[in-house]
Order: sequence, then C-alpha cells, then structure tokens
Amino acid sequence: MTVWGAAAVEAAQGELRIRPGDLVTPLARERAAQLGVKIIAGEPGAGNGTAPANVRGSGPPPARAASGGGPNGQGGQSPARAAGGGGPNGWAGPDGQAGRPSVPAISGALYRRGAPIARAGADRQAGPGGRVMVVGAGHVGMITAARLADADVFSEIVLVDVADGLAAGIALDLTHTAALAGYRTVVSGATTVEEAGPADYVVITAGRARQPGMSRSDLVTTNAEIVGDVAARVAVVAPAAVLVIVTNPLDEMTQHAWQASGFPAERVIGMAGVLDTARFQALAALAGGLRPDQVSAVALGSHGDEMVIPLSQASAAGRPLTEVLGEQTVAGIVDRARNSGAEVVGLLKKGSAFMAPGASAARMVLAMAADRGDVLPAAVLADGSYGITGVYIGLPARLGPRGVREILELPLRPAELADLRRAANRIRERLGVLAGAR
Ligand code: LAC
Repeated sequence: MTVWGAAAVEAAQGELRIRPGDLVTPLARERAAQLGVKIIAGEPGAGNGTAPANVRGSGPPPARAASGGGPNGQGGQSPARAAGGGGPNGWAGPDGQAGRPSVPAISGALYRRGAPIARAGADRQAGPGGRVMVVGAGHVGMITAARLADADVFSEIVLVDVADGLAAGIALDLTHTAALAGYRTVVSGATTVEEAGPADYVVITAGRARQPGMSRSDLVTTNAEIVGDVAARVAVVAPAAVLVIVTNPLDEMTQHAWQASGFPAERVIGMAGVLDTARFQALAALAGGLRPDQVSAVALGSHGDEMVIPLSQASAAGRPLTEVLGEQTVAGIVDRARNSGAEVVGLLKKGSAFMAPGASAARMVLAMAADRGDVLPAAVLADGSYGITGVYIGLPARLGPRGVREILELPLRPAELADLRRAANRIRERLGVLAGAR
C-alpha cells in the first residue's frame, strides 16, 4: 500500500495513478482538486485504472480504491461518477467497477480534524469559524455535540435544552474534555434557542424517546409539537441555517419542521439513512468477517418499517453482497437493520440508541461543512425522482454547505422502486394523521 501525499499530486503530470489499497491523503485530494490533477484508481496489473475518479474543484472526491483499500480514516467517502459511466447512475462503486451502480460507504472516518469548513449562513451572522446549535441535550444531542467538537472544525457548538442546567452541564463537561481530545471548539449551553443565538447548522434532537413496545409513529403528535415549535423559533434566530432533524418519527418530523420553519426544502433534511446504512454495514460485516467500510450499501425509504435497503446496491469487497453472504443471510440482515433501533431500545429498557444516531447526525453536518460533494442517504423532500413528489423520504442526496444540492437517482430494480413508493405512501398517510390531529 502506498500513501500518496500532496507532493505526489504536485509532481504528477495531469493525473496520478494509484493502486487498489493505496491511500490518498485529504490534503493530496485538495491539491488535486486545486490543480486539476485526476486521481485514477487502477486494478493491480491492469495498467490503466478501470474507474477513473473524477476530482473536480468543488465536486466529490474520488471513489476509494478497490476492496481492501478504503478510506482508512482519510475521507474519500463520496462516490465518484465513473468517467463515461453514462448519466447520473453511472457510478463507480468502491470496487471500482464502472457501470455497476453502487453507493458510497458511510462508515469510516468522516472528516479531517481541523479541516476548513464551508458556512451555511450566507449573511455570516453566526460569526467567524462556524457555529452549530444542537437542540435537545439528551443522549443523542450530547453525542452529536461531542462528535462535532471532536472534529475541531467549528468555532462553537451550542447545546440547548429546556431542562435547567442540562445543556450547560454537558457543555462544561465537553469543555473539560478539550485538552484531552485536542479540540479548540468552544462548547456552551443554553436553555432556549433565542439564548443560543445564530448558527450555521442546527441539529434538532428534541423530543420524547421511544420506550419499549412503542413504535416510532406513536410519538408523532407529541414530538410534532416540540419540533414545530423549535423549528419556527430557529427560523427567526438562525434564518440562513440548515436544519438537520433527528427527532422521531423521523420522516414526518422532518416534513413538519420544514413546514414550521418556512425554510426552502433544501435547507431542511432528516438524519436516518446514514444511521440505517451504518447499521446494515456493521451487521453485514459481522456476518461476513469483513470491515464495515468494505460493505457498500444504502438505506432509503422511511426510518422504520418501510426502510428500503436495495440489494441491487449492496456489495462487499466489490462483489454483490448476496453472492458474498447468501440471499437468506442478507435478507436476515436487512430485517435486523430495520429493527436495530428497537433492538437497542429493548436492551437498554429505558431510552433509545444514541451513539450511532449522534455520530450519524454529526456526520451529516460535517459532510455539509466540508463541502466535498458527499452523497449520503437523507430524508429529503422528494422532487419527482423515483416517481415520488412532495413528501420527505430517505433518498441519496449530494450535500453542500447550504443543504441538499441534488437528489441522485439510483437504478433500482422494479421491486425496490415499488417498495420505495410504498414507503412514500405510508409516510403520506401518517402525515395525514398528523395534520388531522392538529
Ligand atoms: C433509532 C432511533 C433513534 O433508530 O430511531 O435508534
């Protein structure tokens, strides 16, 4: 394995050929983008790369090299479109096979510590360095804040919770952690959104958590009130921010926050697909003795029973996952991923998962702030892609500092597409119940 640094990019004449398993440092990728140097991942002994990665100014970084390579904590999470791969669906997957559509791996290191960030707020009202507000200082909010602070890219993280002292206490605890973890990010606490002040990104985790035996949808009316109120107030305090909704039931709460905020849809997104994908990757890796980042997959649809994990998009080490693990095993993993939230709730007895959910929310914020053109599954307002319109549902979205840049259409099998449309219909039905309850 070779590690390619910025010097190698600077010495390259227009293109840098790397081998599967090689690492390209984030700085080298940045230099390549600046200098217009193409990074080309080739198969061993195959001479020319099979999946030339497309390194562009602000575009996505190259797909990581073939199996066994992986980002190894160095970024490179986004898919590159295969050169000549044909249309939006011609992606090169981690296996580097042009033409066989694939999706980016979600796990692995998410960002480069201290990397420069892009700001959501056009008016820069949040001050220099970038500010993130995390509303709800429960477990998920706390882990989100910790992961964001760890990244050391924002000047300030403000935690907000109505419970007196909770946000301030966690903020102080995270402040004490700074010397240990090596971050300069200031972490503070507030009891209201107004006290917290302006922000570039606002993560809303506030709401009731699921109890054992409770479905996410049981929470719909209770949490709608909380999320609607927070979103409307954030719209006043941070009118240029991007909202990331984490509160369940996720798809419905995201749509509700979009309406309550009055923000354009691209600035309101829901966190679920990143989490559900990571769970699927982890479970598939366990079953196959693989590293989670060797599993490529994407979770779409709803964050719940209508989660759609299209197996046409699932691969491990460059081979269809169903071939690697067998169809029955994969079907079992899909089911377990769909029920992973409930599985954790069942074990904890009280409260729901927070480590992976917090890391997922942070991942989304960092993806936007890094402005590398990362494509992540997220709850977005469907724009007609996949034949779905006007409802928030999990779809692959290219993110940027101002939210969703575009929704990408994967070439799903007819049955997968039908499942996705069914999910959209179910979310619509639940939104109807929510509207009726108001
Ligand atoms: C879960 C909750 C957060 O999936 O929805 O764990």
